[in-house]
Amino acid sequence: MAKAATIGAAALLGGCAFLAPSAPSAAPSAPAQLRGAPPQSNRAGSAAAPLAGAFACVAAAAAVSRRSEASTACRAAAVKKKGVKVVHGKEIPWNLFTPKAPYPGKVIENDVHPQTLTSDTGDANWETCHVTFDHGGKVPYIEGQSIGIIAPGPDKKGETPARIRLYSIASSAVGDNQNSKTVSLCVKRVVEVDGEYANREKGEDKPDKAGTGFPDNKVYRGVCSNHICDMSPGDDVMITGPTGAEMLLPEDPEANIIMLATGTGIAPMRSYCRLLFHDDAGASSDGDRKFKGLAWLFMGVPYSKSLLYDDEHEAYKKAYPSQFKYDYAVSREQKNAAGQKMYIQTKMAEYADELWELMQDEKTHVYMCGLKGMESGMAECFGPIAEKAGKDWAEFAKAMKKADRYHVEVY
Ligand code: FAD
Ligand code: A2P
Repeated sequence: MAKAATIGAAALLGGCAFLAPSAPSAAPSAPAQLRGAPPQSNRAGSAAAPLAGAFACVAAAAAVSRRSEASTACRAAAVKKKGVKVVHGKEIPWNLFTPKAPYPGKVIENDVHPQTLTSDTGDANWETCHVTFDHGGKVPYIEGQSIGIIAPGPDKKGETPARIRLYSIASSAVGDNQNSKTVSLCVKRVVEVDGEYANREKGEDKPDKAGTGFPDNKVYRGVCSNHICDMSPGDDVMITGPTGAEMLLPEDPEANIIMLATGTGIAPMRSYCRLLFHDDAGASSDGDRKFKGLAWLFMGVPYSKSLLYDDEHEAYKKAYPSQFKYDYAVSREQKNAAGQKMYIQTKMAEYADELWELMQDEKTHVYMCGLKGMESGMAECFGPIAEKAGKDWAEFAKAMKKADRYHVEVY
């Protein structure tokens, strides 16, 4: 069984040995594992080394630097287990920063990749931003995790600061610029006009940073998503985490990865794709990618203008045609042959046999992120084909989950 354990713990102490001198800039050697790009840039080259261990020490170092408790990260890692969580016997960074003691980061960039982001569709909530924060190497994370953001508020019940909101991390462990000091998010701005709730009465709504405003309506603006989408470089941001163990990549470089995303559910998938197809950390010494399996992305969005990171996906498809497949469902612009609205499951149904076959392979993992309705969509798509094979989809999905091959994060 291809086990989706975390990178990390197995090599915790061993990793410290080579990391200790100059973390986080010291580069560990190339790992055999697919997952576990640590928060360092990767020096391509030698044999399988405990990349994960490198991460764990950095995590420990970050925890230590906050608590001023020990002189070295390694000693701390051996003694203290704060800031890490053991998942499948391995350690991953975990809640290094809490709501009571968040990490004070800075915004580096917001919305500077127009080609990867959304543009105005006419809907009130059209905007999705790609924002990057500097964490100074203090908030290490791995692909598939989330961080929390604390907005100044007021929150729904008037609390200041607001309660934390979780966001799936959209950058790989090394960050967008591969210096292991940044974390990026993909955030949809919540704007509801004349809906059930309002935190701006008629006449109170002002244009946001993107220029969208509804002065003649009562408006609800999501507390944290508007805080994030309105950020500019240099602004402060309060970060908690990292957290999340559901969406971690398998370690097996030959694993197949089926990615199903609606809207901002693309965030963890972007994180994976950066590691698999972009980062130095995912390259072998010969320049080849460490990843040897198939990655197949299905993305569901309302408009073609909302095809997040489309340029990156097209680039991977061009560079790795045998390893990266990319299909999308544009719900408000496309229909299937039967005239049905094109949801992600409608698109997948076009490849149902191929996908079903792929899922029989124990090396295949399914990752699903985004709207809650996706799970029932999967049942719609695969129910009939499972039945044809004499299986029950719900049972099959349950078995895949048990085998740690079916990963779901819906919100
Ligand atoms: P809020 O202010 O929290 O409003 C949310 C909703 O609450 C609105 O629809 C509003 O109508 C309703 N509401 C307002 N007042 C009331 C009231 N009094 N009672 C009941 N309901 C009310 N989002 C992303 O954009 N990108 C991501 O990558 C992402 N990843 C996530 C990962 C995880 C694991 C989880 C759990 C969530 C993720 N989210 C993500 C969602 C994110 O956490 C926030 O929920 C989202 O940004 C909305 O937050 P907000 O503060 O802007 O909206
Ligand atoms: P639609 O809104 O047209 O019904 P976003 O988060 O940017 O709004 O994108 C979410 C996408 O997921 C939209 O295309 C939305 O379609 C689609 N969607 C809505 N409900 C479901 C569902 N139950 N299963 C799959 N996709 C869905």
